[in-house]
Amino acid sequence: MRKKIVAGNWKCNTTLTEGVALAKQVDSLVAERGAKDVVVVLGAPFTHLASVAAAVDLNRIAVSSQNCAAEAKGAFTGEVSVSMIQSTGASHVIIGHSERREYYHETSEILNKKVALTLAQGLTPIYCCGEALAIREAGTENEFVKTQLEETIFNLSPEDFGKLVIAYEPIWAIGTGRTASSQQAQDMLAFIRQLIATKYNQTIAADCSILYGGSCSPSNAKELFSQPDIDGGLIGGASLKAEDFLAIINAY
Ligand code: PGA
Repeated sequence: MRKKIVAGNWKCNTTLTEGVALAKQVDSLVAERGAKDVVVVLGAPFTHLASVAAAVDLNRIAVSSQNCAAEAKGAFTGEVSVSMIQSTGASHVIIGHSERREYYHETSEILNKKVALTLAQGLTPIYCCGEALAIREAGTENEFVKTQLEETIFNLSPEDFGKLVIAYEPIWAIGTGRTASSQQAQDMLAFIRQLIATKYNQTIAADCSILYGGSCSPSNAKELFSQPDIDGGLIGGASLKAEDFLAIINAY
């Protein structure tokens, strides 16, 4: 059965001290709640990963980076490899966030390498996809997302594909306060699941956790998470406050 996942994406926010304090707060709130039914992930900046991993109970909270290098190691100044990420205690890697695609020109080819390296190292990729407003307005969002998946993850073996988490994040809903309606999100996630079933098989499609992201908040999480194909959320702004993040986890 597929897992329910609530993953925070802190983006380029928090100093090390603030990040560790936030992680500790989330960890103790989750401990009180006993969130056995939900996988809780904290997507921290690279500089915080080891400290965040040390500050939480990793049986309760998983730690994720927000990116990784597209090469395993070597002369790539400033890059952070998947094995480095793994050595901090982190278990997940967010790959292909729209901000990485847009501001850092990450192409499908680059993302494909990142996904493969992450899986080869035994970490879980949280692969992001999603369309811009103009594409949604043109009504071609399904085709767009299908191409993203085909170019970056549909070349994986069935075994590898089974280890991946997908996050659908319409760009027009990220940080804008304009959430996709639960129906819009459900429709796209059902479409993605159908594509997986066609490409792989029904079992792999049924077992794949697919998250929604984009202005997910304590006030709309319950409605979003109650949709049959939505298996949780990738949470930006609301993951920076422990109480809000917990309220989203409690939507389950
Ligand atoms: P948001 O960000 O929740 O602030 O809209 C989501 C994301 O970009 O992952």
